[in-house]
Order: sequence, then structure tokens, then C-alpha cells
Amino acid sequence: MKLTLKTENPLKARSPLLVLPSFQGDRPPAAPAFGPALGKAWKELDGEFGSGRLLYPAQASPVERILLLGAGKAEDLDPEKIRRLAGKARNRAASLGMDRFSFAFPLEDHPVSPEETGAALAEGLLLSAYKFDRFKKKTSREDEGERKKEKKEPRRVLLFLRGKARAREKAGKGLQAGAAAARGQNLARELGDLPSNLLTPALFASRARKVAREWGCKCTVLGEKEMARLKMGAFLGVARGSSHPPRLVVLQTRPTAQEKVCVVGKGLTFDSGGISIKPSRGMDEMRFDMCGAAAVLGLFQALEGGRDLPFDLVGVLGLAENMPDGNAQKPGDLVTACDGTTIEVLNTDAEGRLVLADCIAFCRKRFKPKAVVDLATLTGACVVALGHEATGLISNHDPLAEALLRSGEKTGERCWRLPLWKEYKDLIKGSYGDLRNIGSAGAGAGTITAAAFLGHFAGDTPWAHLDIAGTAYNTRKRDYYQGGAFGVGVRLLFRLFKEEGRPWRKRAR
Ligand code: BES
Ligand code: MN
Ligand code: ZN
Repeated sequence: MKLTLKTENPLKARSPLLVLPSFQGDRPPAAPAFGPALGKAWKELDGEFGSGRLLYPAQASPVERILLLGAGKAEDLDPEKIRRLAGKARNRAASLGMDRFSFAFPLEDHPVSPEETGAALAEGLLLSAYKFDRFKKKTSREDEGERKKEKKEPRRVLLFLRGKARAREKAGKGLQAGAAAARGQNLARELGDLPSNLLTPALFASRARKVAREWGCKCTVLGEKEMARLKMGAFLGVARGSSHPPRLVVLQTRPTAQEKVCVVGKGLTFDSGGISIKPSRGMDEMRFDMCGAAAVLGLFQALEGGRDLPFDLVGVLGLAENMPDGNAQKPGDLVTACDGTTIEVLNTDAEGRLVLADCIAFCRKRFKPKAVVDLATLTGACVVALGHEATGLISNHDPLAEALLRSGEKTGERCWRLPLWKEYKDLIKGSYGDLRNIGSAGAGAGTITAAAFLGHFAGDTPWAHLDIAGTAYNTRKRDYYQGGAFGVGVRLLFRLFKEEGRPWRKRAR
């Protein structure tokens, strides 16, 4: 979809559809061609957020239709509302079969900055356009009651942003940043949506290579042999049961820069639970168990190579499939991670932390990073605690955690911090190995014990863990999101790295 900035009066520009936000208490624009109907509809709408009224001109007009879109009170506007309004506008244009439309939006008289406004508009428009339907024949789509006629999708949007020249310039910048972020998020969604037979660890790694090639990033792909040489016993133990061998992908934005920051993603292309097999009901959802890794790759796409960051951003994807098999690891097995930590595998379904343990230990050894952030669909307990509205955040470094919380508010990818007291760390101490991979029976706090396990490998490196089990996919419907993988984490980290400076340099309290 192409977004073009326009400056003239939107009512004078030729368009099959003009979307006009209608704020509560505002006066309607002068649009004589639409007669008194516009004023009446405006009044009736009363700015009710999300409602719409479609109007046709009473006389010749370059604008063939107007959609009034209730936008609430101007003083209550925030970026999330703008994303939602943009998503609604695009969806409405699509359902009207328009291949282009105009969208007017003010850059003043509301609390959102021009840059934020531009970014949120681009995000809402591009994210709402994402669909995962390429495996469906057109005829079967029709069977589901959709219109027989091949429907057009908006490919071009003219944005009429009202404000001073400087504000429009800033909005243009925001638009660019938002579009890049949304493209990265849509890549993460596509990878998330692909099922395990179409996205194996090897295929995922080749997608990573492609992104790296496009933006000139360094990309190293390690296979089983290299991982064995590095003594990644925890990671390899998980992968043993699958006929699809694992991959460890390392992406780097600026390999020569001294300062390193690592972002690690859990990439289980399928998690059956292994020998501690999951119940069959809902097991298909475990094709989404690679959404952490998808977000990391989406972040590199969003950053368009990330050469403007003042450090080397290192992306690490831990890719494997967790399957039961004659060769699979078994409950009670003892494995050794690449930093020498021994682990009792008491439940083969607690596999994400085993993969991440080696990834995090590898990051610290190889890169001596200033900070590590990991993203993982790690625990069902996190869905119990926070549902689908917030990502679980656990960290050993307050300034880093607070920066993530702020980024979450701004991007709408909200996080909620959970504690990591010593008492929780005690729950994962092993009896015949250093650690056990699940908390002892009845310990509870499944999300925190999983994080405590990862925290052991992060040591004193500033580290934040994001449990996206509840936010990575499914029910969390928004106007710019229909279902499936959400690509959560891409915009959260995009903002963190672009706008929060280097919080890991601040002293931890
Ligand atoms: N991938 C799952 C976590 C998960 C569950 C993500 C539901 C999304 C939705 C993870 O590997 C897992 O199986 N965790 C176990 C841990 C338990 C065995 C300690 C869980 O949450 O049940
Ligand atoms: Mn599991
Ligand atoms: Zn898993």
C-alpha cells in the first residue's frame, strides 16, 4: 500500500472516498456539495468513537463519498486510537471495494504530536491490510459468503494532514518510521502464521538470510554440528526428537561496533511437548511457538538494517522443533548448557527455557553484550495471569524494565512487570544438577520460575525477558488486527532502540 502526503483541501481532490474523522463537539467542515446531510450526520454521530456514516454528494463533486468516522473527544486522542481509526478507515474502504481512498487527519488541536500521529496512521493502515489467505483458493473464499465479485483492496491512500508546514514535515517523518515498523511487524506475523510443515527451522533460517541480504546485515547460521562444538547441550536436547534439525541464527547490524546489545527469540516451529506430550486439544496453536524469533527477525526488517543505531544489535534466533520420538530426550535426563550449567529436564514441555538458556549463555560468551532482551511464548501461566492484554516482563535491571514499560504504553504493546525475588530463584535449584527446568510441585508462579531459569544464564548482564505467550497470537482483536499471529514485540523493541536511548547504561537500582 502506498501512502502519499497531500496538502490541498481534501474536498477539492478527486477521490472515490474521503474519510473524515469527526471529533465530539467539533464543527463539520464546509462541504456544500454534500448539502445539509453532512451537518445532520455529523450531529447524529456526536463523535462516537468508531461509528461511521457514509454520505453521497447531492451535486457534482470531486469526492464521490464521505465516510464520517467518530473519533471521540479530541483531548482524549492517543496513538492507539489513531491506529484503530486508520484501521477502521482502511477496512471500510476495502469492504466498499475501493482500490484507493483519501483520509484527512488533524495534526493540531489534540494531544498527539505530529510525528506520533504520522506513525500511528501508517501503522494502522498497513497493519490492517495484512491477511494470511494465500493458501486459500478464491472460490473457497466466496463459499464463505463473501461477495462473488473479486473485491479490490486499497493500494493507495492519500493522506491530507492538517497543520503547519513544520508539523506536516514531522508527520511525514513519523509516517516513514511507522511504515517501516509496520512492515517489520507484518513480516513477523507472516512467519508466525506459517504452520510447522511450511516453516521448519531450516526454512526460517533462510528467511533470516534473505532479510539480512536485503539490508546488508551480517548473518551466521549454525547447524547441529557447530552447536555441538559449542556444547549447547540444553538446546540440542530439545531438538533431538525431531526429524527437522535445529538452527541457531545470528544477525548483526554493525559487527565492527564495540558495544553489543542482544535480542534473543524463542523459535520453536512446533512444540508438541515432546515426551511430556501436550493434550491434543489446542495443540495446533503450538505452531505459533516461534513468535519470539519471528519478532526478532521482524525487528531487523523494521530497522531496515539498523545501521543508524549507535551499537551493534545482535539478533539471535533459537530455532527447533520439540517432538516425541525414540531419540527424544526424556523426563529426568541431565543436560549441560554451553556455560557449563547442568540441568535436570523434569518436563520436556518446558523446552523454550532450555533453548533460550544456551542462546543467552552463547550471547554473553561471544559478544559480552551491554544488555540482553529475550522474547518468548514461554508459559501458559502468563496467559492465566495477564490474558491477552499484556506481555509479561521480568528483568534484573530497573531502567531497562522501565524503558520497556514506557515503550509498551506508546506502542500499545503493553507490558506488565512481575517480580524476581531470590525466593523464586530457589524454586528452580536442582537436586542432582545445578538447575531443574520446572518449579517444584505446587510452587506456582510458572511465569516467574521460567524467567528465573533464564535469569541464571543472563547473570549480571542487564536483561529483560518478555513472555509473549498471551500476546503473540489469537483472540486479541483490534481494528488493525483480525486474528492469527500479531507480531507483538516488533514495535515495542523498535521504539525502545530508536527512542529510549541506552537505558542499560543507567545504574540499576
Ligand atoms: N510454548 C509453551 C507455552 C505456551 C502455552 C505458549 C500456551 C502459548 C500458549 C511452553 O513451551 C510450555 O509448554 N510451557 C509449559 C511449562 C510447564 C511444563 C512448566 C506450560 O506453560 O504449560
Ligand atoms: Mn512446551
Ligand atoms: Zn514452547
